[in-house]
Amino acid sequence: MRKNIVAGNWKMNNDLKATKKLVKQIKKSIKKAELNNTRVIVAPTYVNLATAVKRVKKSKIEVAAQNMHQASNGAFTGEISASMLKGVGVKIVILGHSERRAYFGETDALLAEKVNVALSNKLEVIFCFGEELADRKAGKEESVVESQIKNALFHLGADAFKNIVLAYEPVWAIGTGETASPEQAQDMHAFIRKTLADKYGNVVANNVSILYGGSVKPANAKEIFSKADVDGGLIGGAALKAEDFYAIVTAF
Ligand code: PGA
Repeated sequence: MRKNIVAGNWKMNNDLKATKKLVKQIKKSIKKAELNNTRVIVAPTYVNLATAVKRVKKSKIEVAAQNMHQASNGAFTGEISASMLKGVGVKIVILGHSERRAYFGETDALLAEKVNVALSNKLEVIFCFGEELADRKAGKEESVVESQIKNALFHLGADAFKNIVLAYEPVWAIGTGETASPEQAQDMHAFIRKTLADKYGNVVANNVSILYGGSVKPANAKEIFSKADVDGGLIGGAALKAEDFYAIVTAF
């Protein structure tokens, strides 16, 4: 059965000191919490991953990277490979975040390559995708999402989906304070699950966790997570405050 997941994408926030502090606070707050089958993940910046991995030991918190380069090594100044992530104890990587697509030119084809490399290095992938506002206004949100998923993932065999989490993040809802309504999220998540089922069958589709991302906060998490096909959230801004993150983690 698929798991609920709440993952905090810290983006380019929190220096070393702040990373230690936030991990400590989250660790403390979830210690006695009833987690209801919920995985708790935090994604600090590259330079703080090793520290975070050490500090989450003996807790239920898992650590993810926010990105990864597709090459295994070589002359790629400033980049980080899958084996480097694994070397510091990271087991999960976020790929395809809309900020990577928009500001760093990541395409579906590149992401297909990154997904292959991550999976072959035994990293679990949180794969992000989502339509822009203009797409939704034009009624094209489903076709955009469908092509993002197909282009980056549908070359994979069914087994690969045991190590993939999907994160639907409508670009217009990220960091804007504007959230998709619970119904909009549910409609899209059901569509995503059906798209998966059509290609890989119901068993695969029903076992993949599909997260919603885009201005999730304590005030709206409960209602969004109550929807049948929403298995948790990828949280940006609200993941930077232990109190808020805790409220979202325990919203199931
Ligand atoms: P937000 O970011 O929660 O600040 O909207 C979500 C994300 O980018 O993953």
